[in-house]
Amino acid sequence: VDESVPPQTLAARTLSAVAEYIKDGKAKRIVVLTGAGISTAAGIPDFRSPGTGLYANLARLNLPHAEAVFDISYFRQNPEPFYVLARELYPGKFHPTVSHAFITLLARRGLLSHLFTQNIDCLERRAGVPADKIVEAHGSFATQRCIDCRREYPDGPMREHVERGQVPRCEDETCGGLVKPDIVFFGEQLPSDFERSLHHLSMADLVLVIGTSLTVFPFAKLPDLTLDGKPRVLFNLERVGTMGTQADDVLELGDCDSGIRKLADELGWREELEELWTGI
Ligand code: APR
Repeated sequence: VDESVPPQTLAARTLSAVAEYIKDGKAKRIVVLTGAGISTAAGIPDFRSPGTGLYANLARLNLPHAEAVFDISYFRQNPEPFYVLARELYPGKFHPTVSHAFITLLARRGLLSHLFTQNIDCLERRAGVPADKIVEAHGSFATQRCIDCRREYPDGPMREHVERGQVPRCEDETCGGLVKPDIVFFGEQLPSDFERSLHHLSMADLVLVIGTSLTVFPFAKLPDLTLDGKPRVLFNLERVGTMGTQADDVLELGDCDSGIRKLADELGWREELEELWTGI
């Protein structure tokens, strides 16, 4: 144990201390922050992992730089690359992971204050996390609209266009603008409920950060909005952001599903978790 850290805090820097903290009823409001790393086990590539990340595999789209595929000004000029990608990413083909199921389990036990996700795959919804507990900070494929007149379009025709590799346009002949899913592109505003939900971080007793490089702001600032003395746990292949710099940080580095299963074992929730997951 790190003697320099005050005994009354989590201090032991291990998952078993986090489990004790939860079992002692000290974590009534848990906030979870997720990124693409929580969905890689579902078969969806993340963005920045060397070699396997999406940004390392877009060469065929001849982009000026990888993130252009999600840049609104580039999209206006060249909407095709995004639609090629949308075909691969469109929700419905993928199944939630056991880490997604753990978030649902937290909600069922009344411990989930809020989930902030950067992902657009809707797997948290699919896993059964209550919609009113989810902030999709970077939007999702759930709805789509014209980027000029903002007219909303139903999901069906959109999906057909994407499947056929066509770029959907606004049906209003005075507009003819490009129709895009409500995914937040670089250069666009985050959904209004992102700012409105930030208070959950300062009220959190515990924050779990799962599968994110914490490189994209303002989402990446969320872990730093917690109050001092409140534990923050990172489930990630590598250390990221400011995680590990506070006395109560716990770093569970490695595959997030393994780290989550380890926490579930420490909590005595493992059987319930696996049952919930197979039932999704
Ligand atoms: N277990 C744990 N960590 C993992 C796993 C896994 N199975 N797979 C990947 N990771 C980690 C990677 O090591 C990396 O640190 O998850 C992180 C994923 O980081 P990114 O690929 O940058 O994804 P994310 O943080 O969600 O990106 C944020 O960038 O392009 C924008 O809008 C896009 O929402 C996205 C945002």
